[in-house]
Amino acid sequence: MKKIIIANWKMNPSDLAEAKKLFAAVKNLDAIICPPFCYLYAKIRPSGAKFTLGAQNCHWEEKGAYTGEISPKMLKSLGVKCVIIGHSERRIHFQETDEMINKKLKAALKFGLIPILCIGEKEGEDAKLVVDRQLKEDLNEIIDTDIEKIVIAYEPVWAIGTGNFCEPQKAKEVLGLMKEKINNNVLYGGSVSSKISADYIKVGFDGLLVGGASLDVEEFAKIVKNV
Ligand code: PGA
Repeated sequence: MKKIIIANWKMNPSDLAEAKKLFAAVKNLDAIICPPFCYLYAKIRPSGAKFTLGAQNCHWEEKGAYTGEISPKMLKSLGVKCVIIGHSERRIHFQETDEMINKKLKAALKFGLIPILCIGEKEGEDAKLVVDRQLKEDLNEIIDTDIEKIVIAYEPVWAIGTGNFCEPQKAKEVLGLMKEKINNNVLYGGSVSSKISADYIKVGFDGLLVGGASLDVEEFAKIVKNV
């Protein structure tokens, strides 16, 4: 089955000219590109691009008095197909709770976006307990036929942006525990590089969520090619 490769540009690149360059460089890659909101506008992207467009976050309401927020309906109207929800940087720096993440998932599904739900343990935490709890709370009261549409990214927080990736064999154990409960596509994320990318696929992951390495076009192209 086709593997899912997602680029999370986070708050990069730092201006429009650079964003245009980066979009042009990844134009022919079969991947999902999640740029900052301000670069989602169609005219910034090269025409005929092969990649699919994703966003890094959304609010749970359709519209209203939520200064600074972006709704899933707005994303949908810009041609966005999927949205990252519950990334650990949002949980940590913006105090997103599982309850908020649950509302965001429901809203994204309601407006026809594919949610990419990020879960994972912090340094020293028990991966199984954390992943179990997050799945239970984040997917609370979402009907099975909707749960199936969600892509899950297992991202150990200690592995994100540190260069300290989770060994594929260790990640495989957590994947096994998750697959006992859910039947979703599960990606791995956390310091993915082209050196290690294919190994996650070999142990059973359905794709990768790539942060830092997605800003290096050559490196990201290698990752896409490897899987
Ligand atoms: P990283 O980020 O690849 O830079 O570790 C992954 C992520 O935050 O999704």
